[in-house]
Amino acid sequence: MAAAAAAEEEKTVKYGIIGVGMMGREHLINLYHLRDHRVSVVCAADPHPPSLDSALHLAHSFNWPLHVFSGHKELLDSGLCDVVIVSSPNMTHYQILIDIIAHPKPHHVLVEKPLCTTVPHCKQVVDAAKKRPDIMVQVGLEYRYMPPVAKLIEIVKAGEVGPIRMVAIREHRFPFLVKVNNWNRFNANSGGTLVEKCCHFFDLMRLFAGANPVRVMASGAMDVNHKDEVYDGKVPDIIDNAYVIVEFDNGSRGMLDLCMFAEGSKNEQEISVVGDIGKGEAFVPEGIVKFGTRVAGRDGVQTIQTVDKRIKYDGLHHGSSFLEHLNFLYAIRNKGTKAPEVDLIDGLVSVAIGVAAQVSIEQGRFVTMEEVLK
Ligand SMILES: NC(=O)c1ccc[n+]([C@@H]2O[C@H](COP(=O)([O-])OP(=O)(O)OC[C@H]3O[C@@H](n4cnc5c(N)ncnc54)[C@H](O)[C@@H]3O)[C@@H](O)[C@H]2O)c1
Repeated sequence: MAAAAAAEEEKTVKYGIIGVGMMGREHLINLYHLRDHRVSVVCAADPHPPSLDSALHLAHSFNWPLHVFSGHKELLDSGLCDVVIVSSPNMTHYQILIDIIAHPKPHHVLVEKPLCTTVPHCKQVVDAAKKRPDIMVQVGLEYRYMPPVAKLIEIVKAGEVGPIRMVAIREHRFPFLVKVNNWNRFNANSGGTLVEKCCHFFDLMRLFAGANPVRVMASGAMDVNHKDEVYDGKVPDIIDNAYVIVEFDNGSRGMLDLCMFAEGSKNEQEISVVGDIGKGEAFVPEGIVKFGTRVAGRDGVQTIQTVDKRIKYDGLHHGSSFLEHLNFLYAIRNKGTKAPEVDLIDGLVSVAIGVAAQVSIEQGRFVTMEEVLK
């Protein structure tokens, strides 16, 4: 009996969460909805007692005992978990990742986007991880898993729109939310708006284009939001709207249209991918994909309502966090035969495009990827 229980225990994948603010607790809830897959969250680290209290409260409501620590090093040294989720503020990802990778006990990692706030930090993490083949790192670029986005990726990868020429992504949404100690109000902490949140869209552009970026041109500013906020005597410096053009090495181009004072929008994200043969579009949160060809014309455009029956919890991101965990868990259980779906290079390049866009705004010129990646 004890041997059977021990074997069952052996099979359970044990998670620790570093940073249990809004997103860390979202991971906790998603993992609870995956409990039939033999997962449990056993520990958490956060220096902010109210965040730990909220995580404890949630875990107890799930009947999950939770060991809590004030720092990530204590969590790693406890040896309690096999997998670590890094969902602390962006500027902390670098040191936490370096410490996880250097730790004698191997821990697989799901790190929230952006991988780090700067290209040199991303590259150091990529290099450090190369020396630890026993550790798998997935980056939380979860927009790939939103059902309408996933359907559009499927259509594009099946060649149904032909070779991709143009990828346009519009995000029109509400301003940045208030975060613990307001870390997201300053470029130095978040990496800047085009790194912090738009790494999602640069990742998608690269995926749709099936190519790597060559150069970036952007225009943007902080025109409306956060102008009357002051923290420790400083006014926020994060832009709230931008246009970004990205050129890819296969000749295709991408464009991001970001507006963060656009609550009066039906959709938060609208994605359009056009190839030689046809065009596909995805709308979030409507969950709709439209697909048509040049030959069939306007009358031939199909509208598909996307649903993914695997999703047991929609959460804050339309079920994408749940699917992200399902994929990550599959990769963990099949390590050696299955690589993470979103790897460190995806994390690095998505940050690098954002950095190039930020530099382009500051300097008013095209910025090459070679410049930011060298
Ligand atoms: N995938 C997505 O779409 C998505 C959405 C929101 C946030 N995020 C990312 O998730 C991360 C967390 O964002 P959030 O919205 O939860 O912020 P938050 O401010 O709500 O929570 C961050 C938590 O991390 C804690 N923290 C600070 N320093 C720490 C450290 N050194 N070690 C451990 N914990 C520490 C804070 O005390 C806080 O409780 C960020 O990287 C953010 O970009 C991703």
